[in-house]
Amino acid sequence: MVEGVRQDEIWDAEAAERYDTPGAGVFAPEVVAPMVTRLAELAGGGRALEFAIGTGRVAIPLAERGVPVTGIELSEPMLDRLRAKAAIPVVAGDMATTRVEGRFSLVYLVYNTIGNLLTQDEQVECFRNAARHLEPGGRFVIELGVPELRRLPPGQDALVFGTGDGALGVDTYDTVRQHLVSHHFTFGSGREARLSRCPQRYVWPAELDLMGRLAGFEPESRHADWTGGEFTAESRSHVSVYRLPPAEGARSRAE
Ligand SMILES: C[S@@+](CC[C@H](N)C(=O)[O-])C[C@H]1O[C@@H](n2cnc3c(N)ncnc32)[C@H](O)[C@@H]1O
Repeated sequence: MVEGVRQDEIWDAEAAERYDTPGAGVFAPEVVAPMVTRLAELAGGGRALEFAIGTGRVAIPLAERGVPVTGIELSEPMLDRLRAKAAIPVVAGDMATTRVEGRFSLVYLVYNTIGNLLTQDEQVECFRNAARHLEPGGRFVIELGVPELRRLPPGQDALVFGTGDGALGVDTYDTVRQHLVSHHFTFGSGREARLSRCPQRYVWPAELDLMGRLAGFEPESRHADWTGGEFTAESRSHVSVYRLPPAEGARSRAE
C-alpha cells in the first residue's frame, strides 16, 4: 500500500542520488533564478528558513545571493547531498513539528511539498510551525499545484501528467480522502521499467488560505508563478504568500 510508505523511505539514498539534475529540469537557471529573486525580495534583508530543504536546489543559490538560509529536512540521504555541496545550517526532522533556533523573516516551502504531509491536521501544524519561527510581520511562502480534478472525467481515477524522454507520469486519485499518488515510470531500452511513487494530500488554494488563518496569518498575495504572473482559473500552480501581522498577539495564536 503506497499510502503506508513513509516519506523517509521515498526519499532514500537512491532518490537522493538521482535528485540533482544540474542546469536542467527543475535545476535549470530559468526555473531557479526567478524563485531566488522573489524569495530574496520577500526575505526583506532578514533570515530565511526552508522547510523540506532537500539537496539545496533553492537554498544554495539563495544563500549565495546573500540571504542567510537554514533548513529543516526529514531525509538524511538528501541532507548528505546538501552537506556535500554547501555549509548551510540544517536540522533533521519533520517540518510540521521540528523547531530551529532563532527567528526568521521568511519561511518557504516549495515544489508542492506541503502535499507530502498526508493529513489536514499535519498540514495545519506545518502552517503553525512556520508561524512559530517567524518574526512579527514575517512571511510564509508556499509553491503548490492546483488540484487537477477538472481534468478527471466521471468514472476515471487516473490522469497522465507527463510523457517524454523515456518517462511517463500518472497520478491516481482518491477523491474521498483528497489523496493522490504520483507514479513516475522511467523506461530503459528493454522490458524493464523503473517506478517511483509519491503519495500526496492535494490542497485547494481556499483550503490553504484557511490553514493560514488558523495559524494566525493573513493572505498577502497569490500569483501563478515566481515572476508575478496573474493567478487565473487556468493556472496550474500558484505561489502564495502569507504574512503574520506586525502585532505581538498574532504570534501567540500560533503557539
Ligand atoms: C520534492 S523534494 C523538494 C526539495 C527542495 N525543497 C527542492 O525544492 O528541491 C521534497 C523533499 O521534502 C522532504 N520531506 C518530505 N516530507 C517531509 C517532512 N514531513 N518534513 C521535512 N521534509 C520532508 C523530502 O525528504 C524531500 O527532500
